[in-house]
Amino acid sequence: MSYERPNVQAMHGYTSGEQPDQPDVIKLNTNENPYPPGPAVARALAALQVESLRRYPPPTAMALRKALAGMHAIEVDNIVVTNGGDELLRLLLATFVAPEECVATASPSYSLYEVLAAAHGCSMKHYPLNTDWTLPLNLAAQLNADKVKLCFIVNPHAPSGTLYPAQQLAALARSFKGVLVIDEAYVNFVDPELHYDALPLIRELDNVLLLRSFSKGYSLAGLRMAYGIGAKSLVNPMQYKTKDSYNTDIIAQTLALAAVGDQDYAASTWQQVRQQRAVLRAALQDLGLATPPSQSNFLLATVPPSHQAERIYGGLKTAGILVRYFKLPGLDDKLRITIGTPEENRRLLLALQPLLQH
Ligand SMILES: Cc1ncc(COP(=O)(O)O)c(C=O)c1O
Repeated sequence: MSYERPNVQAMHGYTSGEQPDQPDVIKLNTNENPYPPGPAVARALAALQVESLRRYPPPTAMALRKALAGMHAIEVDNIVVTNGGDELLRLLLATFVAPEECVATASPSYSLYEVLAAAHGCSMKHYPLNTDWTLPLNLAAQLNADKVKLCFIVNPHAPSGTLYPAQQLAALARSFKGVLVIDEAYVNFVDPELHYDALPLIRELDNVLLLRSFSKGYSLAGLRMAYGIGAKSLVNPMQYKTKDSYNTDIIAQTLALAAVGDQDYAASTWQQVRQQRAVLRAALQDLGLATPPSQSNFLLATVPPSHQAERIYGGLKTAGILVRYFKLPGLDDKLRITIGTPEENRRLLLALQPLLQH
């Protein structure tokens, strides 16, 4: 006897990247920041008093929201803090999409969207990206014709690392009749010279919600902290109606606040990742793996058919190096490789060389 709702019984769960126990594995499979959290976070953790756990935490993470509002020059009411970006994605569905309605993404993208939609019980449309990873033409018209209620666009895109200009997303949001979620989980790694900034969109448009995460940019994937930025009319129902009252704990709020206060440290990790991204991309191309430019902390390398991406993935794993392989149409000849430290990247390249010679 199963007590699951029919949609839950029929769905498949999310397949996370492998999280091995062995400390010596080189982990380039789940896009974590290769550098540790900063010294301010370490100090805040050491200063935590066990007594602070006795009481419930601030329900809307006010101190953290104030710091974030100051940093982004927006108001605290434009921000909702969540237990990782994944909680924000779930809240968006719970708040803005009825089970009989439809959500969408430009595919391929973050596969959790589909899982959350299935758990929610709503349908999901996929609009294929062009072969160069650009957005499909007339996307807004297609979304409106299909009566899509909410659309997820990852920017910079995962798994390719392509960056869509903020103006293009603004044009999409202006024409789209539903909520446009711009998932900026990797935005900290964008080259500053590109001056990408989607924040002005939330002032002009009340249907744009930006997702920001502490997982990658602030090296805090283990903490589970993220936030959404949007017009008050989008943020308030999540803040005061659909999220758990105490969705983020006191430890996470304290450490995230410390991380926000030490921008110099975080920015230094972003800069090192960008610099290594260029080095690794050039080296992968030299090995014959076509790798498009990326504005994220990973690269998507195409393995020539003679070598088979799945075999290379297996060979790297045997050598103690994890990268991500997706057995999916359009991705099954590719490997998604997180940018590591210079030493990790060097060992990856050393392990790749013999595998690509056979
Ligand atoms: C595109 C994208 N969005 C959102 C997330 C959620 O990140 P987190 O829940 O760690 O904040 C991830 C995590 O890998 C991601 O890749």
